[in-house]
Amino acid sequence: MKSSSGSPVPRREKNAQCVKDHANYLLLTLATFLNYIRTAMASGRSAPASQSQGQTLLAAIKQDHREIEAYWNKYQQASGDIDAQTRWANQLTWEIARHSIGEELVVYPLLEEAMGEKGHQMAEHDRADHQVVKNGLKKIESLKVGSAEFNQILSTIMSELMEHIKTEEEQDFPQLESAIGYEKSLSVAKSFERTKHFVPTRSHPSAPNKPPFETLAGLLAAPLDKLRDAFSKFPSEQEKQQATAGIHPIN
Ligand SMILES: [Fe+2]
Repeated sequence: MKSSSGSPVPRREKNAQCVKDHANYLLLTLATFLNYIRTAMASGRSAPASQSQGQTLLAAIKQDHREIEAYWNKYQQASGDIDAQTRWANQLTWEIARHSIGEELVVYPLLEEAMGEKGHQMAEHDRADHQVVKNGLKKIESLKVGSAEFNQILSTIMSELMEHIKTEEEQDFPQLESAIGYEKSLSVAKSFERTKHFVPTRSHPSAPNKPPFETLAGLLAAPLDKLRDAFSKFPSEQEKQQATAGIHPIN
């Protein structure tokens, strides 16, 4: 390597430049990530304070499930309008990804901790269900929204997810709530809501689904430029509010 005057650049100077470039890259990545968190929270993809205060874990999870169903309905209703379907598909994927990671990080370890072997079996079953959903979401990432193949795979994902949701709501989590008690349920609900904020827009099947790696792997697996792109195609706040009207916390 030569300097602008044509003379060779000393090795020490070259190394210093490398370190500087690397530091700049890290700073840029960090700034982009912080900006992403700020944007996500400001745009309402974080839970409103009223939803995360005084709500049991089961209620918080049920509310998420109803939102997922609402976004799926909106996707189906938007048939023929590719732009609207793209926005609802993004919203649906976002909601499924952050909800799944919240459960994997906070709820499934608690099942194992509070309910021993029985809880472990439930958690493993639920993780396997999530893996099927993640694999499906990964598959449709490269497909055209609204195409027959996209719709067919998304329908399969959603019917599998509905079965999973039913099991969680009717069997796994009511038993968990009985095991941990009301106060603990309230505090875990808050952790669950907080954890969901740190989630990439797309679900990455290769990310481990057990702590302590999920957060880090999930974050590392999120291509930051893709995150920015994805933010440009979401339903408006008004559209989301209309889609989820009537979904209230159920304690
Ligand atoms: Fe789940």
